[in-house]
Amino acid sequence: MTLIKFQNIMSNEIAKRSFFSRPPEPPPMVLVGNPLKTIYIGITKLFKVPFSWTFANLTNPHISIVGITGSGKSYFIKTFLIRANYIWGTSAVIIDWAGEYKAWVRQSGGTIVSLGKGDFINIMDTLGMKPLDRVKQIMNSFDLLTDLSQFPEQRRLTEEAIEQTYTNNGFIVSLKPPEGKEAPTLKDVIKLLNEKLQDGTYEYPAELENAIYRLRQFAREGEDYFSRKSTIDLGKLAQSGLVDMDLSGLPDERFRALAALFILQTLKEKMRFEGWSETKGLKTMVVLDEAWKVASDERSDAITIVREGRKYQFALIVASQNPTDINEAIFSNVGTTFILRIKFEKFINYIQGSLNFSDFIRTEITKFGVGQAAVEMAFQTALRFPETFILEKIHGEEPLYVYVIDMSDVLTQAEITSGIIAKDFQFEADELKNKFIEYNLSDENIEEVFGRINEQGRTIKIVELANLFAGFNVTVEDTILFLKSLGIDDMVISRIISRVIGAVNG
Ligand SMILES: Nc1ncnc2c1ncn2[C@@H]1O[C@H](COP(=O)(O)OP(=O)(O)OP(=O)(O)O)[C@@H](O)[C@H]1O
Ligand SMILES: [Mg+2]
Repeated sequence: MTLIKFQNIMSNEIAKRSFFSRPPEPPPMVLVGNPLKTIYIGITKLFKVPFSWTFANLTNPHISIVGITGSGKSYFIKTFLIRANYIWGTSAVIIDWAGEYKAWVRQSGGTIVSLGKGDFINIMDTLGMKPLDRVKQIMNSFDLLTDLSQFPEQRRLTEEAIEQTYTNNGFIVSLKPPEGKEAPTLKDVIKLLNEKLQDGTYEYPAELENAIYRLRQFAREGEDYFSRKSTIDLGKLAQSGLVDMDLSGLPDERFRALAALFILQTLKEKMRFEGWSETKGLKTMVVLDEAWKVASDERSDAITIVREGRKYQFALIVASQNPTDINEAIFSNVGTTFILRIKFEKFINYIQGSLNFSDFIRTEITKFGVGQAAVEMAFQTALRFPETFILEKIHGEEPLYVYVIDMSDVLTQAEITSGIIAKDFQFEADELKNKFIEYNLSDENIEEVFGRINEQGRTIKIVELANLFAGFNVTVEDTILFLKSLGIDDMVISRIISRVIGAVNG
């Protein structure tokens, strides 16, 4: 038999006791923010609180995002970058492995750098650093991406040759070079090693030959993406608004990783050089979406940025389908993690192991639809509340699609190249739709035109469009007025009309 024992307890004692051992969401005071200073993300699932993100009360501004393909990682990143730019004027550099941000960046008026398709990086550019420091970084990249470190003599030969090449080109390796001084390239390094081989005095020619062979992989004609004069000003990258570093044109993962590492090194130097400023928000965000070894190897500068970024208002966003690709140091140091839908047991185990959320949240994660997420935040506060909660949906920006009316088939080559006559006209969806309504197209007609345009990647040739108008029984007069309203020249309109089937005779 159990005896019930009564106690006298002061009410302030009771107040300290937690009746719900796990309150399900952080309090609104940390979730809701001033819309002029925080980034709106979505509504929480349980209490329907509008959640806005800021790093002000977090341990740091970095973000990791995990979720299966199609769960909404890239969509979230785009939304986030747009709002951060709007609110804080934050610049962003996207290290775009698969070229999946290109169209969006173009639409948003950002800059696209297409490595391997017209743009080159000289990895020997010093970017204002002492050549000696740059040599270390280059060697670090080789260690990370090749097996060079297993061949100490080859490694030594390579390092020494890179350093010597700087010296031969008038650099003082222990001093910052004067601004604008042009760096040598890996081709010069190879030349130097070849000369050493030719002169025959070095005692292990096989080592030398192998060292040359390794370097040559990055300098071969047609694959010399990193051993030519840079076509872009990397020093300006961190303050150029929205920049897409499109790596999809590089031939394989190794080349992409080398580019990504170089970009991170550059940004890190820039970050340290510029130091702290008074700005309230974030200055620059670096996005690594599916970044293979670059996010997983601890020698990568992704980790340096995570460690030091806060004090420079520099944030890293890492996204991956596979959480185990994200180095533990990143994972456990980021201030915010967005967990979208995850299916694989072992991936959930890994995340739950490092973030410690409840089994309730674990089950939810496996059932998420597109755009649903669990959010885990590392708050810097003495208050205690759960740090993981569920978002009903990430409320994104609807993409602003650009619709193009292509004039090229009614212009002469000379007209196109001269640029005097517009070779296309661009509209947003609503704008174009309003024009159609104005010139008496019915709802079904409009739907048909948009169907056709969407099928062709939101582009339509002007003659095809004029023919659609004729098919809808729009009069020639109305079609002409429509074309005029687009701003098309009378002379060109007559060419279009002459190619509308039935217009000339009927
Ligand atoms: N919160 C959301 N609201 C509405 N639509 C969304 C949302 N998140 C994603 N989508 C849509 O779902 C699709 C897949 O999203 P997204 O490309 O972001 O997936 P992902 O996680 O980046 O996939 P992958 O790993 O293959 O790159 C897109 O068409 C996107 O527009
Ligand atoms: Mg994606």
